[in-house]
Amino acid sequence: MQLQDILYSQGFGTRRICAGLIQLGLVQVDLGEGLVTCDDALQDLDVFEGLPYAVQGVLWSFHAKAYVLLHKPAGFECSHKPSAWPSMYTLLPPPLRNRPQKSAVQGVQAVGRLDQDTTGMLVLTDDGPLIHRMSSPRHHVPKVYEVTTADPLDDTQVQRLLAGVVLDDSPKPVKAAACSVVAEHHLQLTLTQGKYHQVKRMLAAVGNKVVGLHRSQIGVMQLPADLAPGQWRWISAEELKLLASNN
Ligand code: URA
Repeated sequence: MQLQDILYSQGFGTRRICAGLIQLGLVQVDLGEGLVTCDDALQDLDVFEGLPYAVQGVLWSFHAKAYVLLHKPAGFECSHKPSAWPSMYTLLPPPLRNRPQKSAVQGVQAVGRLDQDTTGMLVLTDDGPLIHRMSSPRHHVPKVYEVTTADPLDDTQVQRLLAGVVLDDSPKPVKAAACSVVAEHHLQLTLTQGKYHQVKRMLAAVGNKVVGLHRSQIGVMQLPADLAPGQWRWISAEELKLLASNN
């Protein structure tokens, strides 16, 4: 693959811009002997998953498709066109947002949204079929939420959440897949659907109120403890298998 095509595929701009970066000596590639400047945009390289390279001194690795985890902080909207708060996409570096379009997906997209005030785990990818599989209600990917409530939790609320509550946009009662009281005001709730404000509406339906919401797990994959709010990292091949196995 030509070096300019490698950079283009990774979101560094048009082929012309990528060729410019290369010709200016701003691109280095590690073909096994450390980073070496390549100034020939047409140089043909044997590209492989994880190939290390640097652009303007920033180290990257090649990924045919991008799969990343983001620890969403509060105060960001999961939208490219936010209405009141900054977009959580601004927490990602521009190349991830600008990767060229693949099967109708331009740049990485979040698999399911979190509210502005919700924190926690988001998976983002430019793999259209994976977004479709993980978002489809038919695949029942469990998502675990740590819910902080205004009022004390009791067994009646838990039983009602497990039995199903009526939400105005659903013909059938909506059930929690699992539900356990961790502390007086802390509920761990697992859902397999992703309706608008679902956790908040379910808690309201049982007479309580959500005052804090954090997504700690998607499928069998937990939000890594060392990923601080606002940080992102690549999903490893092993983690991707875990995510895909759940779909
Ligand atoms: N349920 C909600 O109410 N909000 C979220 O952000 C996610 C699930």
